[in-house]
Amino acid sequence: MSMEHRLKELEEKQSKIVKIDPQTVEKQHKKGKLTARERIDLLVDPNSFEEFDIFVKTRSTYFDLDKKFIPADGVVTGVGRINGRRVAIYSQDFTAMGGSLGEMHALKIVKMQEMALKLGIPFIALNDSGGARIQEGVDSLRGYGEIFIRNVKASGAIPQISVQLGPTAGGAVYSPALMDFIIMTEKATMYITGPNVVEAVTGEKVTHEQLGGGLIHNEKSGVAHFLAKDDNEALELVKKLLSYIPDNYLQDPPEVESDDSSDRETPNLYQIVPDEPNLAFNVKDVINEVVDKGTFFEVHESFARNAVVGFARLNGKTVGIIANQPAYLAGVLDINSSDKIARFVRFCDAFNIPLITFVDTPGYMPGTQQEHNGVIRHGAKILYAYSEATVPKLTVILRKAYGGAYIAMCSRHLGADVVYAFPQAEIAVMGAEGAASIIFAKEITSSPNPEETKAKKILEYSEQFSNPYLAGERGYVDDVIDPKDTRKKLIYMIEYLKSKYEDLPKKKHGNIPF
Ligand code: HXC
Repeated sequence: MSMEHRLKELEEKQSKIVKIDPQTVEKQHKKGKLTARERIDLLVDPNSFEEFDIFVKTRSTYFDLDKKFIPADGVVTGVGRINGRRVAIYSQDFTAMGGSLGEMHALKIVKMQEMALKLGIPFIALNDSGGARIQEGVDSLRGYGEIFIRNVKASGAIPQISVQLGPTAGGAVYSPALMDFIIMTEKATMYITGPNVVEAVTGEKVTHEQLGGGLIHNEKSGVAHFLAKDDNEALELVKKLLSYIPDNYLQDPPEVESDDSSDRETPNLYQIVPDEPNLAFNVKDVINEVVDKGTFFEVHESFARNAVVGFARLNGKTVGIIANQPAYLAGVLDINSSDKIARFVRFCDAFNIPLITFVDTPGYMPGTQQEHNGVIRHGAKILYAYSEATVPKLTVILRKAYGGAYIAMCSRHLGADVVYAFPQAEIAVMGAEGAASIIFAKEITSSPNPEETKAKKILEYSEQFSNPYLAGERGYVDDVIDPKDTRKKLIYMIEYLKSKYEDLPKKKHGNIPF
């Protein structure tokens, strides 16, 4: 055969696999979704995508799937560049047997996982799948297992980002759950069993969206970290996220030129953080005032809103921000906010991102609901994550830092490198009212005017103990700072702490409380 013929044959074979009939494309577009290849085109730099395994053929011992042609076995895989950075990608093709995961589909994904790990580059998963391909039985289950074990091996070594762009059912949800970040469109769904099975087993009637829509997983379950209105926005979020994080655990995050002065003062913090301990304020105003203008990128925005976490830049360098949110549940720590904070701290620590913690919290949430659901177990995760983190850790106590939450929010005792406090900070076992009512209980009840005595005692306690200076006397707070100097001081110390090196004791691995 001449080369001309061979090239023609190649072209025909390629086009048979790549070309989807226009009606199928239209069906996908009508659902508000793009096709697998359209998504990759939007995500990567022009002409940077090299596709792998286009000729992989479906294999099934149980059903005669050979007769049912499944282009590329339902998944497009390859390597490309996003803003110049190398990434390994898979993109499931819902138009090919519902993007269901068969044996060869899984092995294509595995090849990309191994590529990402050996090159030390981010792994990006674009999901749109009906789960395990039923006809391939146990081979398809094996496929998930092979993916899961590689997700875990890659965890902490390279960033893994999962984007949910359609249904993700059954086994398909667990690879995303093992990855670092999940981005979901509003129309995407994630559940272990769909509404039909739910109704058959429990009698409960529920829609796909109510069971596992993008909104539910962003607000309620905390499974997803970002919500996007459509495919386009979801893929833009991948690019933005990548701009803050390094390619692997051996590299520092990318640095950018900052157009915000490192000497900028932050006097607005005088107004933003109130003096009175019980007045609410929005801690995001503090964050936005301090970090490089417009760089705060919130993670888990709608979940456990009593804590705020996200990436930002200080003088062009990526930092991880963790803060209590006094505007929501007074900034109390509870089960969900503990999970949110601990997971974010561990991601930053794994990828060399310094931590900045802003503290204003009345403590851990009391009550049977929290206790019975394990606030002890979940709350311990914050202690564990901060104690284990070896990246630079800087803490600013804005106002209240009471009890266990004072210790948990990256106190000196959990290894903070620098702890600053504002002049109105109160570092104590509890607030003045609670403290005075307990320790002066006898004096208050036996006095002729208990209310008046109580008020007096609260004031006395407050004047004596509700301040940052007692902690300063012990060296637990390194300095009480003028709020207008916050940005300058953090930038100076982040730069100074660059050479920080800390080794944890050698062991197989820790045993984080789950
Ligand atoms: C084989 C599948 C499939 C699957 C969908 N299809 N899911 N084929 N195995 N798991 C096929 C359909 O037969 C159909 O083929 C095409 O994909 C499109 O599916 P539709 O149902 O027409 O699409 P839609 O109405 O949009 O519904 C999408 C869906 C639904 C919600 C995902 O297909 C669905 O509920 N699928 C089953 C989901 C599920 O229960 N998966 C769990 C598998 S068990 P045609 O030829 O008609 O176009 C599992 C366990 C692994 O994953 C555990 C590991 C830990």
